[in-house]
Amino acid sequence: MSTATLPEPLASQNDPSHAAHPSPLWHAFADMSKVPETRVVLERGQGVWIWDTEGRRYLDSTAGLWYCALGWGREELAEAAAAQMRKLATYSTFGDMTTNTTLELAERVASLSPMPNTAVFLTSGGSESIDTAAKIVRRYWNVLGRPEKRVIVSRGMAYHGIAGFGTSIAGIPANREGYGPLIEDVHVVAADSTQELEKLFAERGHEIAAFFGEPVRGAGGVYPPVAGYWPEVERLCRQYDVLLVCDEVITGFGRLGAWFGSAHYGIQPDIITGAKAVTSGYQPLGVVLCNERVQEPFYSGKAGVLRHGYTYSGHATACAVGLRNLEIMETERVLERGAEAAKAMVELFEPLRRHSMVKQVRTEGLLAGIEICEDARKRVPNVVDQVLWQARKNEVMTRNMLGHSLQFSPAFIITQEELRFYVERMLTSLDAVAARIA
Ligand SMILES: Cc1ncc(COP(=O)(O)O)c(C=O)c1O
Repeated sequence: MSTATLPEPLASQNDPSHAAHPSPLWHAFADMSKVPETRVVLERGQGVWIWDTEGRRYLDSTAGLWYCALGWGREELAEAAAAQMRKLATYSTFGDMTTNTTLELAERVASLSPMPNTAVFLTSGGSESIDTAAKIVRRYWNVLGRPEKRVIVSRGMAYHGIAGFGTSIAGIPANREGYGPLIEDVHVVAADSTQELEKLFAERGHEIAAFFGEPVRGAGGVYPPVAGYWPEVERLCRQYDVLLVCDEVITGFGRLGAWFGSAHYGIQPDIITGAKAVTSGYQPLGVVLCNERVQEPFYSGKAGVLRHGYTYSGHATACAVGLRNLEIMETERVLERGAEAAKAMVELFEPLRRHSMVKQVRTEGLLAGIEICEDARKRVPNVVDQVLWQARKNEVMTRNMLGHSLQFSPAFIITQEELRFYVERMLTSLDAVAARIA
């Protein structure tokens, strides 16, 4: 190993009680042999800023895992949770039970939907929403007497969470590997090819239940679709009678400027999955929005009981936080502010685009993927981590996407000054790594 591949130590690693602290915590999406070397323990947040237990400050350029739309430290959300907990923390929504808070959240979410008369199924997060959507589409065709329509089609390098169906339809092959046989009757197509999709639909449309896609592929590296992609997918789905499911776990609730990415691209899917920004991540909550067509067999009595649901489906405290979050988003024009920040971002990111270490900066709404150039990645396999570690030293928290790009998905309330801070500190970090590996 050349010295260039060694991690740049964080200042906090000088404190052995911090870095080498043994912990039984098994981190998500992590190589546990490496985590103790670089672990960061975070403690508090305010706006787009977070602080670790050493008192070190970072600009949170990812809003946690794409979710903290409002920014950190909103007392109102804590109060909404506490008020609900004092009344009734939650109650099961199985069968005919629910709470008023849960009913209100469903109504609020339905009112934002691009589909008329939306029904809202509630879950605890994105992966559960995807599994719910997948089971609903299969059950839908089954009830309609077409059980052969089972195949779920997804896009290359798509991410749909890590539960059973989401793992099975993942377009990121590494996320499927090593688990043995998963769910059958799934098919991945090239991400932007409507030609391939049309060929597949023409040949196998009679057995295809649904097409699942993220409006902008997120965890795969932030890839906006090619021009005209979504309207053409919508047209093909209608022509071949395939249900269209938009996975809006990242794009839902305002990240592209509209409440949903589907509306941003001018399409009306049959189902929309969402999570994350619905509560700004202050509580775990997922949503599955279904149009009238999808609801019909389940609401008319044809399907009987839909034997599906989670202990925390419609969790009242999560719904209370969601309601307050959505209310603040409206009263404080948070979507508009996000859209303004997105516009400023495109211009302010020019110097990043031109940096010798950067291959490409892909943007859409308040999302960006900053791809590190191939030459550096070939020479130094962990170069993206090196930039990330350097960025931490320079007070920016970012995230490595698949070893090629860095994620930018800040809170919608990020200011131009904070955007400038991010760009400056990222340039300094890129310069430092470029000099080290030269
Ligand atoms: C598009 C998409 N779908 C599904 C998921 C899974 O959501 P969760 O991690 O809440 O289960 C994610 C998570 O990032 C996502 O980006």
